[in-house]
Amino acid sequence: VPEHFRQMVEAHELLRKFYHHLLMNTDEGQHALEYLTNRGFSKESIEKFQIGYALPNWEFASSLLQKRGFTPVQMEKAGLIIKRERDETYFDRFRNRIMFPIFDHQGNTIAFSGRALGDDEPKYLNSPETPIFNKSKILYHFNQARSAIRKQHHVVLFEGFADVIAADRAGIENGVATMGTSLTAEHISVLKKNAQTITICYDSDNAGIEAANRAAAMLDEAGCIVKVANMPNGLDPDDYIQQYGEEKFRTDVIGSSLTHMAFKMLYYRRRKNLQNEGDRLQYIEEVLEEISRLDKAVEKDFYLRQLANEFSLSLEALKQQVSQTTKSTP
Ligand code: UTP
Ligand code: MN
Ligand code: MN
Ligand code: MN
Ligand code: MN
Repeated sequence: VPEHFRQMVEAHELLRKFYHHLLMNTDEGQHALEYLTNRGFSKESIEKFQIGYALPNWEFASSLLQKRGFTPVQMEKAGLIIKRERDETYFDRFRNRIMFPIFDHQGNTIAFSGRALGDDEPKYLNSPETPIFNKSKILYHFNQARSAIRKQHHVVLFEGFADVIAADRAGIENGVATMGTSLTAEHISVLKKNAQTITICYDSDNAGIEAANRAAAMLDEAGCIVKVANMPNGLDPDDYIQQYGEEKFRTDVIGSSLTHMAFKMLYYRRRKNLQNEGDRLQYIEEVLEEISRLDKAVEKDFYLRQLANEFSLSLEALKQQVSQTTKSTP
């Protein structure tokens, strides 16, 4: 490991400890701690995830880092401070935010995401790409979740920090998240090496459902067993746990996850009125198309029967159409 990488990590470790201390033990951190407590974060979670608070000061980190002998040019490359054009002095990137440290897969602190306490934009301010932080490779909480993932051969994929943390509190310890980026081939390769089954548990708003559909297709393509958690009406996992509790989250959301095909069927039903003949025909076409792509004859048969039953169609006609679709798509 090059010396300057090591120093960048050291600076992150130092700030992580300071931010955590400011949150837990100071008057200036009191309102931030109350914010977290009101959102249902437990003391244990705050410790386990090493959550902290960055003061509103413009030069807390810059002066601390300089005092400790870190060079400003390097700390800017590490994404922690920013240079002022006019006089070449430096100021802190993260101010007045709840600080979520981001650990690499070995447990080193390599980045931060800072959440605004109010409605400031952006909601989450992230470290930029740096020599030690590559968003397309890192999964939040992977390092701590690894052993649970391997034991269960199963990983749960979330959208956000708060979701991973709430799920962990609810006993789902095999959760990870991508951080504001979509799932990459590198993420998938990490997941595949450690688990057989992947449950996608994204927000159940439009953006989340679309992202889940894309992630499911990529994971399926990579040969994973894909499931999609069944979360109602626009909630995200953190909201759900707040509203319905940990037990219901484990049983009714994670424990009742849909197969990939069942998810796709729900996906194609969205914004359709199946009482309407045109919508109904379109839905049947879309599902037949999906069935034609299944590898296993038994699965094909299973879903064809389901479709035949639901819409009172002849199994023969459906089979015929699927075999035509299969022939026409290479
Ligand atoms: P969401 O908008 O769903 O936020 O973004 P959230 O996780 O529910 O956050 P809370 O509950 O309001 O605190 C999902 C994830 O996308 C990334 C973050 O990783 C976030 O957890 N994101 C979101 C950003 O990086 N920047 C943003 O401004 C917003
Ligand atoms: Mn502590
Ligand atoms: Mn979201
Ligand atoms: Mn969300
Ligand atoms: Mn949320």
